[in-house]
Amino acid sequence: MSSRRDALPLRPFGATGLEVPPLGLGAGPAGDPGLSEAEAERLLGTALDEGIALVDTAPSYGLSEERIGRHLARRRGGFVLSTKLGYGVPGVPDWTGPCITAGVERALRLLSTDVLDVAHLHSCPLDVLLRGDVVEALSRAVCAGKARVAAYSGEGDALAWAVDSGAFGAVQASVSVCDQGSLDGPLARAAARGLGVLAKRSLANAAWSGAPPTPGDAAAAAYRERWSALSLADLGLEPAELALRFTAFAPGVSSALAGTRTPERLRTLAAIVRKGPLADEIVAEVRRRWRERGAGWPGMI
Ligand SMILES: NC(=O)c1ccc[n+]([C@@H]2O[C@H](COP(=O)([O-])OP(=O)(O)OC[C@H]3O[C@@H](n4cnc5c(N)ncnc54)[C@H](OP(=O)(O)O)[C@@H]3O)[C@@H](O)[C@H]2O)c1
Repeated sequence: MSSRRDALPLRPFGATGLEVPPLGLGAGPAGDPGLSEAEAERLLGTALDEGIALVDTAPSYGLSEERIGRHLARRRGGFVLSTKLGYGVPGVPDWTGPCITAGVERALRLLSTDVLDVAHLHSCPLDVLLRGDVVEALSRAVCAGKARVAAYSGEGDALAWAVDSGAFGAVQASVSVCDQGSLDGPLARAAARGLGVLAKRSLANAAWSGAPPTPGDAAAAAYRERWSALSLADLGLEPAELALRFTAFAPGVSSALAGTRTPERLRTLAAIVRKGPLADEIVAEVRRRWRERGAGWPGMI
């Protein structure tokens, strides 16, 4: 267990009043039914022991929400809890106001908590946001004290609208060496407006690993091509370190969410973030290559 001496420092989560560490746990892997209950408990516990006091989950992450409820409820005061909404409530049509309202109750029950710190609309398109009912239902959950921060997770025109709408206190978007397109536009505006910003896919889904992407995972497949087109291996840094230090210290990013199945890798990721930002010339080179070779690449949902 880490001592408080090397706990990760906290940063303001925009103007929300919450504070988050530069590294958050993407708790998708913790929901994998292939992990035993004891393995999931160890993974989640290691995150908090390492000072990774932010846990991001979703209804689509397998057993993740119920495992967080089961294994972290007694440590609930020690971390920021982020989840997603919009689908997956039995008997309620997806992407409707009632689905948000019932989804909040479902999440509170599964997560064994009385408040969600960050509640995202999980990747709905712009037309759903513009319809109003879903955004209003989320806002009512905040007014009722069931969620602290209304947030949107997604990319492109919907992300841009969410940032500018005034309806959200935070956004979640893909940010990595292989996904830099939102940094200068919507995420810079988000930070300037006082929104918290969570960076998803911060390791570019380990694009450097020789492992084939999971079938159907378009983002992971795209990132492998981008990693190679950007020739990032020739920068001379260990890939996970290059990727995570780039994202965790990117301007405007409050916290980089990273996913892993293993406590050992989680400790490695925390140690990487403790090293602080990359040298300015490395960041400048990663940004230069993106502008030169990747400027038209879209953010990956
Ligand atoms: N809102 C959304 O729609 C959305 C979409 C995607 C992601 N997210 C959030 O962002 C989180 C992270 O995204 P992600 O898991 O898709 O991608 P990621 O964090 O960019 O990459 C995860 C991959 O990196 C590998 N990895 C982890 N640590 C490593 C290390 N030290 N060295 C080498 N490889 C390492 C993991 O493999 P091992 O498991 O084998 O370590 C896993 O394959 C998610 O869990 C979720 O919270 C949200």
